[in-house]
Amino acid sequence: MQHKITSFEQYQETYKKSVEHPEQFWDEIAHTFSWKKKWDTTLDWNFKEPSVKWFINGKLNITENCLDRHLEKNAQKPAIIWESNDINEPNRILTYQELHDEVCRFSNVLQNNGIEKGDRVCIYMPMIPELTIAVLACARVGAIHSVVFAGFSSKSLSDRINDATCKLLVTADGLYRGNKTVALKEICDEALQTTSSIEKVIVYKRTNEAINMQIGRDVWWHSEMQKATPHFDAVEVDSEDALFILYTSGSTGKPKGVVHTTAGYMVFTYYTFLNVFQYESDDVFWCTADVGWITGHSYIIYGPLLNGATSVMFEGIPTFPDAGRFWAVIDKLSVSKFYTAPTAIRSLMASGLEFVYPYKLDTLKVIGSVGEPINEEAWYWYHEHIGKQKCPIVDTWWQTETGGILISPIAGVTPTKPTFATLPLPGVQPILVDSGGYEVSGNNVEGFLCMKFPWPSILRTTYGDHERCRLTYFSTYENLYFTGDGCRRDEDGYYRIIGRVDDVMNISGHRLGTAEVENAINEHPNVVESAVVAYPHDIKGQGIYAFVIVDKQSIEKGIVDTDPDTGDAEADSLRLLNITAFKNEIRDIVSKIISPIAKPDKIQIVSGLPKTRSGKIMRRILRKVAENDISNLGDTTTLLDPSIVDEIVKNAQ
Ligand code: PRX
Repeated sequence: MQHKITSFEQYQETYKKSVEHPEQFWDEIAHTFSWKKKWDTTLDWNFKEPSVKWFINGKLNITENCLDRHLEKNAQKPAIIWESNDINEPNRILTYQELHDEVCRFSNVLQNNGIEKGDRVCIYMPMIPELTIAVLACARVGAIHSVVFAGFSSKSLSDRINDATCKLLVTADGLYRGNKTVALKEICDEALQTTSSIEKVIVYKRTNEAINMQIGRDVWWHSEMQKATPHFDAVEVDSEDALFILYTSGSTGKPKGVVHTTAGYMVFTYYTFLNVFQYESDDVFWCTADVGWITGHSYIIYGPLLNGATSVMFEGIPTFPDAGRFWAVIDKLSVSKFYTAPTAIRSLMASGLEFVYPYKLDTLKVIGSVGEPINEEAWYWYHEHIGKQKCPIVDTWWQTETGGILISPIAGVTPTKPTFATLPLPGVQPILVDSGGYEVSGNNVEGFLCMKFPWPSILRTTYGDHERCRLTYFSTYENLYFTGDGCRRDEDGYYRIIGRVDDVMNISGHRLGTAEVENAINEHPNVVESAVVAYPHDIKGQGIYAFVIVDKQSIEKGIVDTDPDTGDAEADSLRLLNITAFKNEIRDIVSKIISPIAKPDKIQIVSGLPKTRSGKIMRRILRKVAENDISNLGDTTTLLDPSIVDEIVKNAQ
């Protein structure tokens, strides 16, 4: 752990060195790892194309660094402790040796099923150790994993499979989530009707429900594993070979496949895990995210395993069987470092302290937050009731595209300030710019958050569409990576992320594009047009507010959001029923096309949308209505039909 920063002075020195001599800085860290062949040039980059390459011509396999490297000293150390959805089901513990052997076995299974270096493998799994095994086995054979969050619909799954032309799908019969089960294989079967690239499906048995197995295509995980040996020589890949694709929403309709490559991602997730959480060898680290998101990739799997840490993997949800589940598990497993999302903190805070008090939580040393701005109230509650005022809170800011944490306190080293992500980690060079792209310098300022120098795990491309990557991240401001976030730098030079400045929403820490949700709503046969905005939501951070124009037929049926009190009670209640049914249909459609997480919280039927003469929707006005801040709607004179605003305001939800 020679790269661990242990004092603020050391942070300042290290930071300075990392900015003055970035190549030398990362070079030294990269030497920690096992390489099949060392790199010959550390970095080559330009943000114009963009093209970023780290550790050029290095040859390696990341799983040798996650697994094999630890076997000599730590073969019997737990790598994964798995906590079931069912609180009474015993924990499963996989030591480094066991995880290594299982990964090797599954690598053989992948190979036996036709997977070769460079092939794309889609993984749509419950939060069980086999998900981690599948991910690492892909990396071991040199295949590119594309994990799709198991809460996504069959349509989202097939879109992602098609975009990356995945050859193989790893899934399970079903999954448990609180008191529900989800028939995963059924969803896969539906998705596979509109995909042609998948040749094999490997199915893990989790819920034991009867499922359809298509002969020749579908095989069982357990029978394939029985045939496989626990030895597999890790395939040599290049530093810049893709390790994985992870889809994320942007401001246009279609999610894009963010591509991360091998060596840079490895070096950066290793380094950030070690420092931000101040990893110690006896830690029990628990990140509550799902592996379907970047947080799970980087801080359940890769970051911890690269450090030889013990990582907890949780199948369930924070409120099952009750709102004390997180705290019960922390006590049961003696968790020392805990990493979760503000939305979970807010929802558990709302459940009341009676769910916290039964637990000691005295093993905790560091607690973290990720995915969205943490509000002051939640920060203090977390600090006082979970951290017992002794655990530093690391409010970590980063993105799917950044691969790892960029701005965050180093636990116990960086003095924290509620709601501030504080300072950039070594090697990270933030810059704030105004709308003209000019640097906003000095302190006590606000601007758009950009990065002016590449760190090792910056995204390399968006799968199959490099131009989209350039346009989205590298063309707004010349020679800068644009994050899409607004940010404040205070008098101490501390960074506070304000939120997205584009059409990306953050619902319970999940990223969704407004256009993506609108496209789904527009699939309803009676919807003519829709516009979606986010509004502040007590628990979810942001909620979704949809404004929907319906067709003539629906208006005739009374599907309009106006005062129902016409004096005819029967007609009014029938109309209300119709409206409720219609809104539920919209929610169902969004669930089916994207995921239940994308369901609009509020739906307002409108007769028109506030559009400029050139046809652009003025979302600013809709946002104000959704935020219930109608006192100052700003200039509406450029609208094609300003009267529409009055109607929208009058019937706001
Ligand atoms: O707006 C920022 C917000 O989440 C966005 C990235 O979302 P995603 O790619 O899904 O990754 C989430 C997990 C890393 C960012 O552009 N965000 C993330 N962390 C924070 C945050 N906003 C404020 N504070 C944070 N700590």
